[in-house]
Amino acid sequence: MKKKMALCTPIPKKQMDIIEQFCDVTICGELKHGKGNVTEDMTREECMGNELVVLGDEYAGADTITAWAEAGMKFMGVAKGTPATVDYDAIDKAGLELSYTPGRNRVAVAEFNIGLMIAAARHITLSSTGLAKGEHTGPAVDDIYDVPDVKNVTFGPLDEKHPFVDYGIGFELYGKTLGIAGYGAIGREVAVRAKAFGMEILAYDPYCPAEKIEADGAKAVDLDTMLAQSDIISIHLPVIPSCKAIVNKDWFSKMKPTAYVINTARAYVIDQKDFVEALQNKTIAGAAVDVYWQEPVPANHPLLSMRNVVCTPHMAGLTTDVDGWSGSMMGDEVIAYLNGEPRKYIWKLKK
Ligand SMILES: NC(=O)c1ccc[n+]([C@@H]2O[C@H](COP(=O)([O-])OP(=O)(O)OC[C@H]3O[C@@H](n4cnc5c(N)ncnc54)[C@H](O)[C@@H]3O)[C@@H](O)[C@H]2O)c1
Repeated sequence: MKKKMALCTPIPKKQMDIIEQFCDVTICGELKHGKGNVTEDMTREECMGNELVVLGDEYAGADTITAWAEAGMKFMGVAKGTPATVDYDAIDKAGLELSYTPGRNRVAVAEFNIGLMIAAARHITLSSTGLAKGEHTGPAVDDIYDVPDVKNVTFGPLDEKHPFVDYGIGFELYGKTLGIAGYGAIGREVAVRAKAFGMEILAYDPYCPAEKIEADGAKAVDLDTMLAQSDIISIHLPVIPSCKAIVNKDWFSKMKPTAYVINTARAYVIDQKDFVEALQNKTIAGAAVDVYWQEPVPANHPLLSMRNVVCTPHMAGLTTDVDGWSGSMMGDEVIAYLNGEPRKYIWKLKK
């Protein structure tokens, strides 16, 4: 007899073909009703009585999980990088393991991170928003299509309207040194991409074996070396108590005054006051940030109006491809369970 599986998040067809040989699958949760259209009560009801329950962003508190376990749930999966939407104690008490999808958006964040590095180095957002606001534009014309047929239209020379006169000329990534703080899933993806730009990579991660770092063509260094030698420092530290605000005035004072900080990790790891002051006082040259101490970021936050800071609204990890990554990892977890094999991505329920 086939097992029953409740599926709330997409799994690629190739893996579904295997899963459906073992299971009758009920599509439910956000996969059925759409993003944001599901309450915990709906999820509880829809997933009840299934041996396998695979969630995406749906919430499942202690009562829900206990009820599912009493009704025969033996496999639980949450297709998220941090499965904080479910109650770990209840899963532990039910004697179950929790599959999740670590690093599912590592490529999304890494590519965005490279984008932020270039945006900061070349003043892309400053010049783009400036141009839209009327800076560096010529006089308005009645008919934009009625222009002289000139072969080679150029902006220059660097007159007072030229953006470079305003912002200064940007720098290339090629030949510069990139410090990676935290050489985990995302830090590594940033490093290998930055190498393709011709950057030298210095990685600071006391918990990552040096051989792993060196195998990527990066250098494992201590904190002071990374701080002193990097032209850009990219932060990829985890949200754990030992990392709270460790990026602070002590770090900034050891950095080059020409250096930039890129943060797509969490604001939690940076001391807010020290960061704002370092940017205002030009202890460091600039920054690009995707994450804030309060989100949405307050409209009057000083970072938003600093011309040496690129700000984006916590979107580095969001792409239309992320569901594909987490779906295929979760598909592997389900297939391992169905084959009676050990699962690979198990969340530590007790930290
Ligand atoms: N902006 C976004 O949309 C977005 C999306 C996904 C993840 N993130 C964030 O990105 C960060 C990195 O995520 P990840 O998946 O690469 O995490 P990860 O756990 O894979 O990597 C973290 C690395 O930091 C190292 N580390 C721990 N303490 C350290 C310390 N004191 N000094 C130096 N290194 C230390 C660990 O050894 C590990 O290698 C997290 O903060 C995560 O929340 C942001």
